[in-house]
Amino acid sequence: MKKSPVKIAISDILLDEEIYPRRSIDQKRVGIFAENIRDWSQFDPIEVEPYPGKSGKYRILDGAHRWSAYKATGASYIRCMIKNLEGCDPLLYAATKAIGPKQLTEEEARTTARRAFQHNPRLTTAEIGKAIGRARRTVDSYIADLKAVILMDLDLKIFRMNALGIPQERIATRLEQTRDIVRSHLGNMATLPKSPKDDLSRGYTVSQVAEKHGWTEAMVWSLALQGKDDLARFRELNWGLRTWDYWHFNDCDNRFGDEWPGRIPAQLIGHILYYFSRQNDLVFDPMAGGGVTADVCLTFNRRCWALDMVDRPDKRPEIEPYYWDMDAVGANLDLLKAKDKPDFIIFDPPYFDKKAQEYEAKSISSLPRHKYLRFMEGFFRQMKKHTKHSTKLAFINADWRNFQHTPAVNEIPEDAILVDDYLKILHKTGWRRTHIIQAPLSSERFDAGVVSAMQKKKILGVTSRYVIISK
Ligand SMILES: C[S@@+](CC[C@H](N)C(=O)[O-])C[C@H]1O[C@@H](n2cnc3c(N)ncnc32)[C@H](O)[C@@H]1O
Repeated sequence: MKKSPVKIAISDILLDEEIYPRRSIDQKRVGIFAENIRDWSQFDPIEVEPYPGKSGKYRILDGAHRWSAYKATGASYIRCMIKNLEGCDPLLYAATKAIGPKQLTEEEARTTARRAFQHNPRLTTAEIGKAIGRARRTVDSYIADLKAVILMDLDLKIFRMNALGIPQERIATRLEQTRDIVRSHLGNMATLPKSPKDDLSRGYTVSQVAEKHGWTEAMVWSLALQGKDDLARFRELNWGLRTWDYWHFNDCDNRFGDEWPGRIPAQLIGHILYYFSRQNDLVFDPMAGGGVTADVCLTFNRRCWALDMVDRPDKRPEIEPYYWDMDAVGANLDLLKAKDKPDFIIFDPPYFDKKAQEYEAKSISSLPRHKYLRFMEGFFRQMKKHTKHSTKLAFINADWRNFQHTPAVNEIPEDAILVDDYLKILHKTGWRRTHIIQAPLSSERFDAGVVSAMQKKKILGVTSRYVIISK
């Protein structure tokens, strides 16, 4: 049944430039329409759709000139058809409508094609061509450069994920591409590094090459260090190798990982990998945050599967979205049921309570003490169940004592979560501790005023942090 038009207040209808295919409204045309309206001519209803994110408002799909003319005559209402585009691109729909009465100019057609493609790179040239009234070949010429950028971006993502050992079907799901497309891109992988490699051999620095080719530093490092052993990699990165079980680093190495609450220094991951894993091992980081583990794995030629509840498909496609919920029944992760099992787990969860407000509301950091500990128990049990007998685990954590406003002697031990508690849970869930390494947090983040107040009140802060290695 054909829908009938409805009257909508002109003030509730807006022209959204994002989906308007013309350069501007033709005022001469508006003037002629307005004269006709004053002579009692009735125009066809205009077409609108509900304005996304603006409740009670509509945006114009077809009829911008008629709407302007009614406005000019001082009318309060206009007859409208409210459309449901059912997933059809609104800019292209508006363009289809616009070419009826008056062809789009060359510039309008080109701009519309480019805007539509930028907004939705999945549109085919045929779909765009049909909407703007141009041949596919013409559309191809309009968007060739944009297409090349998108394809290159996809190549780089696939290259990175492939280098980290993520299976093809997971790459396809993550990048919302078919397996055939991923496979065809994988065909480019042998030639892709050629140009960055040439630049490296010409003496450009890793960061210059990364900048020039749009690669991440970690990806360029993985090329620059190809074929080298771990010790040589440490040297080239200018990281002093610690020989004893005390790993102190003043700063995070900003070449690896993103700014992130609770970010750990890349050098710390480098040391864990150096001492406890081998090249080509599969590392699993279940709460990967800013991606430092994945970056260091690329740099040290380890494979890496990484997860986090925060989804950043564009910047960090290699970190797959996953929310660990130990209360959910049967929440086993398919990824861990795969035949390929991790050789090594690096688990750097958010500390209990500390910085809870910096993470997403559902982060385990916000759990009450008993639930946080229960989460850990469930988590370690699952890890044991889904890994190999030889899999090792590096668990990074610290004592949590409520020292903030409390002199050391008045702290309540029952409220604390100590490293001893984690050791007990690890033992109970079948993990045997082999090493405990001190990797203290920097105390430089406390300002002198705070330190002096703590000293006066006999408050004893925490900067000790440990890497507990278990088998
Ligand atoms: C300490 S951060 C990891 C930092 C990371 N190692 C780095 O250096 O960038 C902990 C991460 O755990 C994630 N997280 C917390 N609770 C989670 C849950 N239940 N499931 C999945 N991820 C969770 C947070 O989003 C956060 O990114």
